[in-house]
Amino acid sequence: MKNIKFKDLKRKYQLLLNEAEKAASKAYAPYSRFQVGAALLTQKGLIIGGANVENASYGLCICAERAALINANTQGERRFKALAMIARGGADGKKIISPCGACRQMLFEFSENSGIDLEILMSNFNKSKIVIAKISELLPLAYGPNDLGIKI
Ligand code: THU
Repeated sequence: MKNIKFKDLKRKYQLLLNEAEKAASKAYAPYSRFQVGAALLTQKGLIIGGANVENASYGLCICAERAALINANTQGERRFKALAMIARGGADGKKIISPCGACRQMLFEFSENSGIDLEILMSNFNKSKIVIAKISELLPLAYGPNDLGIKI
């Protein structure tokens, strides 16, 4: 896990974070007013975004990271190098946003299947604080398809 400045990110990661920011502007978050954007970088170099979608039945809210994964899957993409995320609103906009537990589990599924330890870029709202970590660091001792003896 490391802190990194936006200017020191590789170009593709800068683009990825900018796409996550664009996705955040598409969030449907009338309840929390917390607009989250995520963007996945596929192994082929495509960038696919997602934003959170809330519901009056609060438990049905879908996070930005999972929205991005579902969007990517629909485009036939399941092999990812990195995911960037950023949020606007919330208690402290100066803090970075990191994936919730459910999203870590969903991200791990595809990470394990592809054999790529996904890099997660977590930014605060104005990109003045960015942390990069691997999914294996965010979800240690993860449970996944291999535990079922399933090779996908
Ligand atoms: N949210 C995300 O989109 N990603 C996360 O990792 C944390 C939470 C969304 C879900 C909900 O719409 C709002 O943020 C408040 O929890």
